Amino acid sequence: MRSLIDIKELTTQEIDELIVVAKDIIANPAKYSEKCKGKKLATLFYEASTRTRLSFEAAMYELGGNVLGFASSDNSSASKGESVADTVRVCSGYADIIAMRHPKEGAPLVASMHSLVPIINAGDGGHNHPTQTLTDLLTINREKGRFDNLVVGLCGDLKFGRTVHSLIGAMARYNNIKFVLISPDELKVPSYIKQELDKSNIEYVETRSLEEAIPELDILYMTRVQRERFFNEEDYLRLKDTYILNMSKLSKAKDDLSILHPLPRVNEISVEIDNDPRACYFEQALNGKYIRMALIMKLLGVE
Ligand code: CP
Repeated sequence: MRSLIDIKELTTQEIDELIVVAKDIIANPAKYSEKCKGKKLATLFYEASTRTRLSFEAAMYELGGNVLGFASSDNSSASKGESVADTVRVCSGYADIIAMRHPKEGAPLVASMHSLVPIINAGDGGHNHPTQTLTDLLTINREKGRFDNLVVGLCGDLKFGRTVHSLIGAMARYNNIKFVLISPDELKVPSYIKQELDKSNIEYVETRSLEEAIPELDILYMTRVQRERFFNEEDYLRLKDTYILNMSKLSKAKDDLSILHPLPRVNEISVEIDNDPRACYFEQALNGKYIRMALIMKLLGVE
């Protein structure tokens, strides 16, 4: 039995295989419509979500399976004090696979130690979000046709943005990748991630200026400032609108830039960008359903 807690648990070959399957699902959805017939997915979401939870549920339905779960800790017995370990032990008797989101870093890992079925980390605090990273990789693959030789800009809240941490971990394995880390000083990428990049001799620069960075980028990964992870509201209000991508800034970018955002968006991408051919974030959200279908099949051992 295998869970997915961190993107680094997947080999490059496994990621490639998931992408191949996801693309085949897009091309031939009917072929997959009964692959998980009789199987159940439990979505245990202790923290708010739109895309991740609903795309997991849509993924399981499109595979012919069924779904059960809760969408907030308030309407589960966590509100009465039940531990993650006990909840998961119980729910793993009701479902064949579990997707879990939790505000505490490491909660899905703890869950995987007590579960009788595979656990998928659907986001744990400011730590990791491996299925978002698979979504991002499928989007980059479909947009660029490659993972090598790319300048990847990550912009916004690089401190608390778990999608950023997972994406750097995944992209760092490919050849000739340069990361441009664009953030205010208070929201820089954690030093443990920079140490890993240093150890692997991967090029990166840190800057506060999106305007200066944008001309060299192949990918621009915008992120929201993560209000829910701040200890004080004043800091959030001061930092929340540091970066707003608009047409004026985009005019300096390459014609084939791909703009990604894990969403939800607050203010960081002006809506005037949405119809620009370089905006990929709504397709990216849709890609999340296909790659999650591929992942569910893989972890359930469905051919
Ligand atoms: N990208 C993402 O995780 O979105 P949700 O919080 O809506 O699931």
